[in-house]
Amino acid sequence: MKFFLDTGEINDIRELAETGMVDGVTTNPSIVAKSGRKFVDLIKEICATVPGPVSAEVTALDYDTMMKEADVLRKIAKNVAIKVPLTVDGLRTCKRLSSEGTMVNVTLCFTCGQAILAAKAGASFVSPFVGRLDDLGVDGMQLIDDIVGIYENYDNFKTEVLVASVRSVEHVVSAARYGADVITCPPSILRQLYAHPLTEKGLASFAKDWEKTGQSIL
Ligand code: G3P
Repeated sequence: MKFFLDTGEINDIRELAETGMVDGVTTNPSIVAKSGRKFVDLIKEICATVPGPVSAEVTALDYDTMMKEADVLRKIAKNVAIKVPLTVDGLRTCKRLSSEGTMVNVTLCFTCGQAILAAKAGASFVSPFVGRLDDLGVDGMQLIDDIVGIYENYDNFKTEVLVASVRSVEHVVSAARYGADVITCPPSILRQLYAHPLTEKGLASFAKDWEKTGQSIL
């Protein structure tokens, strides 16, 4: 299972990349806006920090302009994955880029039918947004279970299921339970994954008892 960071905050990416848990990064126009950075510079810096796929999203809505934007973005670094929306033009762009060997992440997926189209278009990743479905009172994780099951029926579907719009540790654990290939989460969720009060408590008591021995390993 791969962990991507869903952020444009370079300091968080640098810090968490050092833990060895970060396999890639995803961004979107909202994340770029929040970072306050120039898009191309930001993607270049992230690509130099994390060797895995770094998603950079096109902003055009039509095929010709999406392709032009993708040409700019994929030149930034070898590990750029072009993010396209799940629309007719987005999937047409996906098919072309994939056939040219460029990684594509198809975003804004909300149904199994859309996920089937993304796989047929040769996407490297499909991003179902679980949190936004939960917000509507629909079980986002059920969609993940369904897509993983459908993809398993076809050997020629190579698309990885990338769980996006992750809002909690429970989303991450459920994604693993259902066999999702990748989750992308905000830095805060990755930090929360480490935490348990009994780990803290146990560590404190071990430290206290160790001190009583007067020993030192080094
Ligand atoms: O990268 C897209 C996705 O993860 C957005 O999440 O929290 O804005 O629904 P959110």
